[in-house]
Amino acid sequence: MGGQPSHVISPMPIGKTVIITGGNTGIGYEVAKGVAMLGAKVILAVRTEERGKSALAKMKADYEERKKGGDCYDIVVRDELDVQYHICDLTSLKSTMQFISWFKSTVLTEDQWESTYQVNYLAHFLMISEFLPAVCASDVECRIVIISSQNHMQAEFDPEYAASSRMKKFDGFNSYANCKLFQIQLMYSLDKVLEHHPHIDVLSVDRGKLDAMAFPNSDASSQGFSCQMSCLKCCGGMRDDRPGADTVIFAALDPALQGLSRGYFLRPRDKARPAPCIIL
Ligand SMILES: NC(=O)c1ccc[n+]([C@@H]2O[C@H](COP(=O)([O-])OP(=O)(O)OC[C@H]3O[C@@H](n4cnc5c(N)ncnc54)[C@H](OP(=O)(O)O)[C@@H]3O)[C@@H](O)[C@H]2O)c1
Repeated sequence: MGGQPSHVISPMPIGKTVIITGGNTGIGYEVAKGVAMLGAKVILAVRTEERGKSALAKMKADYEERKKGGDCYDIVVRDELDVQYHICDLTSLKSTMQFISWFKSTVLTEDQWESTYQVNYLAHFLMISEFLPAVCASDVECRIVIISSQNHMQAEFDPEYAASSRMKKFDGFNSYANCKLFQIQLMYSLDKVLEHHPHIDVLSVDRGKLDAMAFPNSDASSQGFSCQMSCLKCCGGMRDDRPGADTVIFAALDPALQGLSRGYFLRPRDKARPAPCIIL
């Protein structure tokens, strides 16, 4: 009894978030404290401000005492624990939904955009917009290749997406699919804007399927996404990096594409029609 814990002790990955209901007292408190001391970012879902504040104060004091004791072989030693609380009264589904919405909103970027949207679309849009004046002013041939995905076909197209991306109704897969749809739309829109600049071509490709994805909110991704990835694995539908890269290199360099613009390719020389909702 007492002494060393009977569970495996290993530090939590940096930035790993753990939500604990009932974490302000009893076993929930001890679990919260245990994982917080292993380095996790812990969120206590508690009923009232008072309960949250008192649990935080107690946990902080426990941690300080533990560090003072010097026997820190099974904890991560740092200035303070990464613990916070947020109101979640489980007897109220409204309160529970409010907690869920609040938590989802914490996966916004520092610019307050949903991160899948910002990483896949907005940041690239900004980069292209800022480089474009210089590229237009020069007469050097240039291609912009936008990496989209056949997943854009499954987007539940939401023209208000940019506004709703502020986490009002976040769904990981649909967010990704919408971004990929917007990227192809961006190709067509840019092509119109650049009609008097024939030395600039804009193309888009699907780079094939892989395990990893530019999917920053994957923890919050939908069941649909995991299901699709599992099916692709089972059916051998995953492509490795090389063939995907070939399609990108083809779009960027193949001399036969010069002056084509507005092409969406699934593979080298395999031009495809994008989703019907795209405005050509
Ligand atoms: N994987 C697929 O099955 C698939 C299918 C169709 C289309 N695509 C598209 O193909 C592209 C590449 O995807 P991938 O799966 O091959 O690669 P990935 O694992 O998603 O990451 C590709 C690169 O993006 C970087 N990156 C991610 N987030 C970033 C951020 N916030 N700031 C700067 N760099 C960041 C990564 O850098 P770090 O190493 O620093 O994270 C990595 O170098 C994406 O546009 C994706 O949507 C992928």
